Amino acid sequence: MKNFTLLLLVAGFCASANAADVKNGDKLHADNCTRCHDSSIYTRANKRVKTLPKLGTQVRMCKNNLGITWFDDEVEDVTVFLNKKYYHF
Ligand code: HEC
Repeated sequence: MKNFTLLLLVAGFCASANAADVKNGDKLHADNCTRCHDSSIYTRANKRVKTLPKLGTQVRMCKNNLGITWFDDEVEDVTVFLNKKYYHF
């Protein structure tokens, strides 16, 4: 019984670790991504990003321009945050 509870805990932890963390994306974005452009760039009429995979690519490109190191799941957090708040793909 004890082991079973532990297993559930571990499974729950892994599940939440895999899901994108929108709050973390919000924070990472606020701390790193507002230097060159504000958020109006995400909703401008002629925005370049038109699909979710392209959004991921663009986040990665801007991140690389900045020279910051993010793990893949941090890139994903920011991508999901931007999608949820601005792009709605
Ligand atoms: C060094 C300056 C700079 C920084 C810092 C920067 N960006 Fe960008 N970003 C740009 C430029 C330049 C463009 C392209 C503008 C254009 O195409 O007119 C752009 C465009 C974008 C777009 C596409 C907007 C569209 O048209 O749909 C996204 C999304 C984006 N940036 C995300 C980010 C994220 C996330 C970060 C933080 C990791 C970030 N940017 C930080 C320079 C920057």
